[in-house]
Amino acid sequence: MENIQTILEEAERAIAQAHSTADLQAVETHYLGRKGVIGQLLRQLGTLPPEQRPQFGQQVNAAREHLKRLFAERRAVLEQAELAQRIEAERLDITLPGMPLRPARLHPLTLTMQRVKRTLIGLGFEFVEGYDLERFEYNFGALNYPDDHPAMDEQNSFHIAPGYLLRTQTTSIQGRIFEQLQRGERSLPLRIAIIGRCYRYENVDATHSHTFHQVDAFMVDEGVSMAHLKGVLTQFAQLMFGAEVRVRFRPDYFPFVEPGVDFAIWWKGGWLELGGAGLIHPNILERYGIDTERYSGFAFGLGIERIPMLQYGVDDLRLFLENDLRFLEQFPLL
Ligand code: FA5
Repeated sequence: MENIQTILEEAERAIAQAHSTADLQAVETHYLGRKGVIGQLLRQLGTLPPEQRPQFGQQVNAAREHLKRLFAERRAVLEQAELAQRIEAERLDITLPGMPLRPARLHPLTLTMQRVKRTLIGLGFEFVEGYDLERFEYNFGALNYPDDHPAMDEQNSFHIAPGYLLRTQTTSIQGRIFEQLQRGERSLPLRIAIIGRCYRYENVDATHSHTFHQVDAFMVDEGVSMAHLKGVLTQFAQLMFGAEVRVRFRPDYFPFVEPGVDFAIWWKGGWLELGGAGLIHPNILERYGIDTERYSGFAFGLGIERIPMLQYGVDDLRLFLENDLRFLEQFPLL
């Protein structure tokens, strides 16, 4: 009797002192395991006089049930504590600042080209794609350059293979479009525009790069005159730079227009040339079977880089190609 009572008291103390589920498991095995203390008591049963056995058996069973309950209660408490400890140890501190995400933005030249495109589409032009790697024939020959004309030297390009170069001007699209007209894939009138990269073998400086962008547009219809050209370019300039913009047309020479002009706008106290323009040379129209008694056309080609240089006050066009984030991040997000 005494014995059972003592065992129970010891067991209760050991349970209370177990500070982890692993400790508790060891204590439990010690008391309730197959070779444990309670088991040994039960094995003593056979050695007792028969009349004592029932009472002793009941007491041992009661002690075992009592211990089982204590173990279960203690285990629940310890498991709870250990879970809390693990959660605390593995806690993700989501309040720490993360890796900052840089907002993506469009390149200033892309922003400008989108505006130019929207503006010319609004004026009725259809944008087409050309080829950066162009045939010599389209870049020069189809544009009425006489053989060995010095203007070809001015636009010296990167010759990639015999007969192929990186286009020096987006005007090179004209011959391809006129051929489509000849093949019956297009019909008059034409209002075509193209925007893209051009390449020239240049001495690079603050206003000239080996790689730059141009937009070209041309129109062929009955009775097209310089008045139409000036009207379209003036409207284009007003839409791009504001209604008060002043424009200037001065005679200039390009083999593919007659007459030819250069086109400039007044900007902060000076005239700034944006590109060239003129009426498409009759030689070109005739070459592609267009009746020049009935039809005529205008064409213009402008440099793109000049536009954001004016609008954002960028003084060196090389910055557009360097991909320096300190420069690029100064432009609006969209
Ligand atoms: C031409 O390229 C003609 N194709 C324009 C044209 C089209 C005239 C249709 C008549 C009819 P020009 O070489 O002047 O012309 O170039 C036009 C514009 O492109 C220049 O005013 C300038 O703004 C830009 N440009 C030319 N070369 C460079 C360069 N190396 N770097 C940056 N911009 C350039």
